Amino acid sequence: MKSKWLILVVLTLAALLIAGCAGAQGPAGPAGPAGPAGLKGDPGPAGPAGPKGDPGPAGEAASAFRTYAGDEACAGCHTDLYDKYKMSGHPWKLTKVEGGQAPNYPFTKLTELPQGYTWDDILYVIGGYAWKARFVNKEGYIITDEPGKTGNADYLNQWNFANTIVGKQAGWVKYNSGKEKLPYNCGSCHTTAYSPRGNQDDLPGLVGTWKQEGIRCEECHGFGGLHIQDPQGAPMDVVRDSEMCGKCHRRDDVENVNAKGGFIEHHEQYEELYQSKHITINCVVCHDPHTGVVQLRQMGMQTTRTTCANCHYKQAQVQNNEIHAAMRVDCVECHMPRLVKTAWGDIDKFTGDIRTHLMAIDSQQLTTFGEDGSLVSGQIGLDWACRHCHVEGGSATAKTDEELLNGASDYHTPNP
Ligand code: HEC
Ligand code: HEC
Ligand code: HEC
Ligand code: HEC
Ligand code: HEC
Ligand code: HEC
Ligand code: HEC
Ligand code: HEC
Repeated sequence: MKSKWLILVVLTLAALLIAGCAGAQGPAGPAGPAGPAGLKGDPGPAGPAGPKGDPGPAGEAASAFRTYAGDEACAGCHTDLYDKYKMSGHPWKLTKVEGGQAPNYPFTKLTELPQGYTWDDILYVIGGYAWKARFVNKEGYIITDEPGKTGNADYLNQWNFANTIVGKQAGWVKYNSGKEKLPYNCGSCHTTAYSPRGNQDDLPGLVGTWKQEGIRCEECHGFGGLHIQDPQGAPMDVVRDSEMCGKCHRRDDVENVNAKGGFIEHHEQYEELYQSKHITINCVVCHDPHTGVVQLRQMGMQTTRTTCANCHYKQAQVQNNEIHAAMRVDCVECHMPRLVKTAWGDIDKFTGDIRTHLMAIDSQQLTTFGEDGSLVSGQIGLDWACRHCHVEGGSATAKTDEELLNGASDYHTPNP
């Protein structure tokens, strides 16, 4: 049917054309249609080219998002923030030894090495920023004995910095001394973008791989490859929850604050906070994550963003002890005593080298630790709250149990 119609139309057109030709001059007709045909040809090829171009850039963008930039890439734009971050502990947690020289720390100096070693034999220093340092050999194992030897359980391999508060000079102590091949399996808390698989630099002692040593910007904010090209278009993650910090500032089960040798073990800030009502307060309410605490303490500045008195203004007004009030005994002296030990501690002086985050004081309880060395409760006893000052040889007179119990109860309740 269709073809019959077509034939009919063509024949009619041909007849009209012939009829037209017969009326006027022949050549003028065909010249017209030729023009439009040329124009239609161009748009055709242009179409396919467009769609093919687009997927290219999209693919590149997706891979750039997963690219690690490195903290130096952030320094150009976030300059002030970067400068204070470089003075804080996080980026210094694990430092590669370059050119046979000791690393250049902001506040400390490493002048000695474990017996038998030179800087040329050391791959990494672990820590060294604040309290203590351990060392990694060229195979990636933590140094526990003289080069090529094992078995000396008295070998001194951990350097503790001097601590005037505890009353200790700098010096060497033991850490897993004499052990054979102690792997460096600490990367999940000490490095950036850690993966437990494989071995960094293919060294047998280094467990897992990482993008950069220490805790760098992108450990907390995610990879920045795209953000450095397009800061507004590709925002970074900003996570303010305590859980983020608690990934590393913890030891194990959050319900359990571990103690050893008469002290709380270090890196348990999250567990300690978990014991108290402060668990509802994020770490960054009190701490600037980029400055930390140590550098502010070194510079004699206020060490936290928010002070205790900002929230507890009533307690700040009343201390039922005129002498304490006159001497301005600080909240943290009683509520955050140095119950924690990382390098040095002196049990007889009730002094370790890191402040606890437990904060709650039980005014009826004289001891903090039980016979077995574990915590009596989630609160601080009066021995640790008061006796780092009120002890023989302390900064204040020694006090009897009775005197402390009387002095502590209703400490912030106004006298009638
Ligand atoms: C230990 C984790 C951590 C590290 C390391 C870290 N940050 Fe942050 N950063 C945070 C947290 C948490 C916040 C938001 C909370 C706050 O500042 O109180 C933040 C906020 C920021 C902000 C927003 C500031 C504002 O006031 O809006 C910028 C910009 C930033 N970080 C950049 C960086 C750069 C650049 C680096 C490295 C030089 C870096 N951060 C390293 C945790 C970290
Ligand atoms: C080319 C300059 C530039 C570089 C490089 C850069 N940033 Fe930014 N960054 C910015 C600007 C501008 C903003 C504010 C963006 C806004 O307000 O939308 C910002 C904001 C941020 C924020 C706050 C949250 C957000 O995205 O708005 C964080 C966190 C951050 N940058 C981290 C980093 C880190 C980590 C690096 C290094 C990997 C880095 N920046 C590199 C310019 C830069
Ligand atoms: C669960 C996370 C975590 C693991 C795993 C971990 N650490 Fe740490 N470490 C920390 C934190 C957090 C600190 C600092 C806070 C503190 O001590 O309370 C720290 C501090 C240190 C310091 C003192 C740093 C200084 O500048 O003084 C040394 C040294 C150290 N750790 C060595 C090790 C070694 C060696 C291993 C592996 C055998 C290890 N750590 C495993 C979280 C961890
Ligand atoms: C990936 C693991 C990790 C995360 C996440 C982390 N930290 Fe740390 N933090 C450490 C380690 C390890 C040290 C010891 C660094 C050193 O001594 O060189 C440390 C040290 C510190 C210090 C003491 C050193 C200083 O500069 O004053 C403070 C304060 C601190 N962290 C606060 C925080 C806060 C707040 C957060 C969350 C915003 C956080 N940290 C997140 C591992 C971590
Ligand atoms: C951002 C506000 C804020 C800051 C800063 C703050 N606190 Fe608290 N604190 C609270 C809240 C909220 C509670 C729970 C109050 C309640 O239940 O009545 C609390 C409870 C306490 C308690 C009771 C113990 C407990 O676990 O129930 C003590 C002790 C305490 N704080 C001491 C301190 C000290 C010391 C500091 C400074 C190092 C401090 N607080 C900083 C908000 C804060
Ligand atoms: C000399 C030690 C000491 C100092 C300094 C001190 N406190 Fe207390 N604080 C205590 C004792 C002891 C208790 C427990 C009182 C009780 O249970 O009867 C307590 C209890 C508290 C409580 C729990 C609620 C309450 O009123 O019992 C808060 C909150 C608190 N203090 C905040 C502070 C703040 C903020 C500062 C600094 C301005 C501070 N304290 C300074 C010893 C001290
Ligand atoms: C209520 C406020 C508050 C909160 C919340 C808080 N801190 Fe602190 N933190 C302090 C104070 C105060 C100090 C002692 C500062 C000083 O010694 O001058 C401190 C000290 C520290 C130190 C150094 C310890 C030392 O003695 O050198 C680390 C590490 C730390 N905090 C980590 C954390 C982490 C991680 C969190 C969250 C899990 C957290 N803090 C939550 C107030 C707080
Ligand atoms: C930072 C050090 C420090 C801490 C912590 C401290 N005190 Fe004191 N206290 C002093 C000093 C200094 C004096 C005055 C001189 C003296 O008695 O040795 C004093 C005096 C006292 C007095 C005698 C007051 C008078 O009027 O004669 C009592 C009682 C007392 N403290 C109880 C406590 C109790 C209870 C705690 C713990 C909850 C405590 N102190 C924590 C430094 C401290």
